[in-house]
Amino acid sequence: MKMHIEIDKQRLKQEIDTLAAFSDAVPPAVTRVVFSEQDLRARTWLKQRYVASSLSVREDAVGNTFIRWEGSHPDLPAVATGSHIDAIPHSGKFDGVVGVLGGLEAVRALQRSGFRPVRSIELVQFTAEEPTRFGIGCIGSRLMSGVLPASVDQTLQDSSVETLEVVRTRAGFGGDLASVRLPEGYYSAFLELHIEQGPVLEREHVTIGIVTDIAAPASFLVTLEGQGGHAGGTLMPGRRDALCAASELILAIEGLACSSGAVDTVATVGTCEVHPSAINSIPSRVKLGVDLRDTDGERRNRVLDAIKNAAEQISQTRQIQIQMEMLNADPPASSSPRVLRAITSACSEMEVASRQIVSRAYHDSLFMSRIAPTSMIFIPCRSGVSHRPDEYADIDDIAVGVEVLARSLAELSCDLTWTN
Ligand code: GLV
Ligand code: MN
Ligand code: MN
Repeated sequence: MKMHIEIDKQRLKQEIDTLAAFSDAVPPAVTRVVFSEQDLRARTWLKQRYVASSLSVREDAVGNTFIRWEGSHPDLPAVATGSHIDAIPHSGKFDGVVGVLGGLEAVRALQRSGFRPVRSIELVQFTAEEPTRFGIGCIGSRLMSGVLPASVDQTLQDSSVETLEVVRTRAGFGGDLASVRLPEGYYSAFLELHIEQGPVLEREHVTIGIVTDIAAPASFLVTLEGQGGHAGGTLMPGRRDALCAASELILAIEGLACSSGAVDTVATVGTCEVHPSAINSIPSRVKLGVDLRDTDGERRNRVLDAIKNAAEQISQTRQIQIQMEMLNADPPASSSPRVLRAITSACSEMEVASRQIVSRAYHDSLFMSRIAPTSMIFIPCRSGVSHRPDEYADIDDIAVGVEVLARSLAELSCDLTWTN
């Protein structure tokens, strides 16, 4: 589509910096946990930006925010883009934010260009893509796509043992959680702009990654119960130290991921709670949080089974009770050929270097792909670093990503022949 699009890099960079300041961490680190005071302040600030761009704003019962630019055929399924603004503890300012503020700038750039959408264009700001508060990621998009039932309102709890229902209601998002689910065919396409969170684009000097697949994530908790006691008075023979058993299991998990037969298998034990956590007391209970992923869902499941077997063995040899609680085990997702085509032709129009790429991180797109033809646009981030305070993406690369997004949205918005 022939269009002259100019991205306002300076304003976008300022906005990314301003959003980063809504944080509970010392800069450059960012911590913005869903429904924390900083998250709510960030939401208010963002809403002002949306309204200032003459866009309408709707919030659902879990705080997913829909920012709409009405097309000339508002009755047709809209084209959507979006990402998240929550940030895991001690992380950076680009993960998710590039897709939200970049999505807003894509819309504003299209407005400035004189473009008029045919299908409406919506920007979605998803709630709780990160698992920090409630233990499971992508709560907003899981509910939208029907992957999570509304009953999670009572079953999901944060570390203060408050339910999702209590926390969201206090944050100002009331109503029936079942209403979050979107009807079939609500969107004709969904695209998410995101930093790569890996090293491929930077290494190959390619500015745009066109995401063909998203790897299958799983996460689970492991509780190990042994016997505590006095660190001095209890002799070594016969001890049932839960932390020693957990250490064995952690190394087994690492070993099983390394020997799966593919580099695509990754496993991380990211949390470890020790009870009673006193230097002179034998740990009686340990709780581990484990993240396991693979581009191949079946191979991921085989590794999961092998981890269960390893836990069983450790339980027997060390006389430790081990329980595993699955939090999620999602299948991988494949992008829609139609959306891939739109992104590819936007890259050709702009004569920008692109390559197809697999997303090893998960995103709201993993769940949006269940209810809409979906794909993602990746831009490079320095050294592939993410989920760290030194996460960095160059504003020039961000601007290229925003323009690719804007052109793709415009083309998909004008496609009337296409019925999913
Ligand atoms: C998303 O933040 C992920 O952990 O992949
Ligand atoms: Mn993240
Ligand atoms: Mn993200």
